[in-house]
Amino acid sequence: MDAHQQLTIGLFGFGVVGEGLYKVMQQTPSLNASIKKICIKHPGKKRNAPDELFTTDKNELLSDPDINVIVEVIDDSEAAFQIVSTALSNGKAVVSASKKMIAEHLPALLELQQSTGQPFLYEAAACASIPVIRNLEEYYDNDLLHSIKAIVNGSTNFILTKMFEEKLDFKQALILAQQLGFAESDPSLDVEGFDAVNKWALLLGHAYGILAPPQTIVFTGIQNVQAGDAAVAKEKNFHIKLVAQAQKLQNGKVAAFVLPQFIRNDDHLAFVRNEYNGVVIESGFADKQFFYGKGAGSFPTASAVLSDISALRYQYRYEYKKLYHHRPHQLTDDFYVKVYISFDDIKYIPRDKFEWVEEWHAMEERKYLVGVLPFRELAAENWWRQHNISLILTPDPVIEDIELRRLKKKSLELAGVL
Ligand SMILES: NC(=O)c1ccc[n+]([C@@H]2O[C@H](COP(=O)([O-])OP(=O)(O)OC[C@H]3O[C@@H](n4cnc5c(N)ncnc54)[C@H](OP(=O)(O)O)[C@@H]3O)[C@@H](O)[C@H]2O)c1
Repeated sequence: MDAHQQLTIGLFGFGVVGEGLYKVMQQTPSLNASIKKICIKHPGKKRNAPDELFTTDKNELLSDPDINVIVEVIDDSEAAFQIVSTALSNGKAVVSASKKMIAEHLPALLELQQSTGQPFLYEAAACASIPVIRNLEEYYDNDLLHSIKAIVNGSTNFILTKMFEEKLDFKQALILAQQLGFAESDPSLDVEGFDAVNKWALLLGHAYGILAPPQTIVFTGIQNVQAGDAAVAKEKNFHIKLVAQAQKLQNGKVAAFVLPQFIRNDDHLAFVRNEYNGVVIESGFADKQFFYGKGAGSFPTASAVLSDISALRYQYRYEYKKLYHHRPHQLTDDFYVKVYISFDDIKYIPRDKFEWVEEWHAMEERKYLVGVLPFRELAAENWWRQHNISLILTPDPVIEDIELRRLKKKSLELAGVL
């Protein structure tokens, strides 16, 4: 595709993102790109575009030799994978926003890009309007990326903000998010962390060359966070956020997870309120950099799709440099994390698994402790997701120094737990 070539687009999906793209493209004639056909699922729906543009036959787009770019923005990840695979195999460049599909099929999509030589871009799939994928690919193309931590899901951030600032309980905050269109009508994908871990799986590929299926990453959402946790956070001058993070350890391996976390008031992520997203990247010499913007919504997401379409004009493609040109990093669960855990009944807390306990509050109806656990315990066991237990990481949660084990017995005794 050369810089002067007309881009003729076949668009799959005309929902929040697809219609947004259609409108945004009408306002950017300089792009020299046009939508030839739009494939949707339900032909009966009223559309804000000419009838002759629409079809329900995917082959009208995938087999049209005039169409050189397929934009896939549908909400069915298996159908999306079929569409994207066929499009690449048919020699078309592809732009997608479907994070679930990409996270679940990344190895196959890498193979297809290699075998077909076609570009496959998906900036909108992680943090929508924030250009984080291209920055990780191009700017942080070195071995000095110490850590990346991010708020990647706007719905959960909105709910936590309302719980924290307006003292709403979880259910009230969720209803408000749904009323304002920030949460799905079935909100479990957002609230239970699935959406965030999908985005994290694909960002790990670009940050560290790690190909981890989402189900292998330790994650949870905010479904167990209680108003009482927000009160404790406030007392300690912390916020609570659902944070996706990856950190390079001294042994060169990478710790990665998506969990609720206490955030200090002066942390960049504390600034990220309501439905916004934020990413903090820490690298060897540049120290910390902070990206902030809208992580969802019709126009913000369409703007990232548009930017990918535009990048096709100058033959841009992801090179997956960390995967193919550097030695890829490996994930590890051999480290420790400092956690806050609140609970109704101590019998569900495996006290012997803690290295030590620093705080212990058992007076109130809802009890909590702050202690250190092997991360492997979170990876292997499920107790911390059940029985109304709320687990929140402390600020700077990762502990690498295993020597601290020596303190275990003594501190447990001091805390009165043993
Ligand atoms: N919304 C956001 O803010 C946002 C942000 C970043 C990424 N994304 C991702 O972008 C994608 C689209 O999201 P959305 O919010 O625009 O979804 P949406 O509003 O629910 O729209 C989905 C569209 O896909 C169409 N569709 C579903 N299955 C299809 C199929 N098999 N063939 C052709 N069309 C099909 C639907 O057709 P009908 O209109 O006929 O029902 C509809 O137009 C998702 O993967 C989502 O995760 C969304």
